[in-house]
Amino acid sequence: MERTFLMLKPDAIQRGLIGEVIARLEKKGFQLVAMKFLRLTREMAEKHYEEHVGKPFFPGLVDYITSAPVVAMCWQGKDIVTVSRDLMGATNPAKAAPGTIRGTFAVDIGRNIIHGSDSPASAERELAIYFAPEDFVSWERNNQPWITE
Ligand code: GTP
Ligand code: MG
Repeated sequence: MERTFLMLKPDAIQRGLIGEVIARLEKKGFQLVAMKFLRLTREMAEKHYEEHVGKPFFPGLVDYITSAPVVAMCWQGKDIVTVSRDLMGATNPAKAAPGTIRGTFAVDIGRNIIHGSDSPASAERELAIYFAPEDFVSWERNNQPWITE
């Protein structure tokens, strides 16, 4: 089953949205594999967002993402990379479809609640920043046949 890296950003924690966002992922039928509550160091943030080094918003992005705790997670499910990004909605919450996570809970591109990997390769690169191999829990739900054929 495909897996991805999802992270509740500092604004989600500050606004008390941890439960609501996680509930959406659970109700969708995705499965939690690893989870950590932590505050990012600047080094971790710069590694996570290395593709954006040099862009005008990069310093502000690193300041924000390191400013308060986050919830780092690994989730798995069918086509989860694409489907979880669809659930999140567009990067800019002003453009995110109503009903998506960003469309429902956020208004500003610099405070958009959640991060999700943009490809399976990005997911593996990002997961390695936050988790050690033993952090991933292998478990089975007995309702899986009611979620995927
Ligand atoms: P992530 O899941 O967080 O990676 O979002 P994304 O893949 O939808 O967007 P992208 O990787 O292009 O940008 C990473 C993050 O940088 C975004 O989620 C925003 O928080 C921030 N960001 C991107 N573009 C801008 C911008 O033009 N201005 C500001 N202030 N922030 C931006
Ligand atoms: Mg991205």
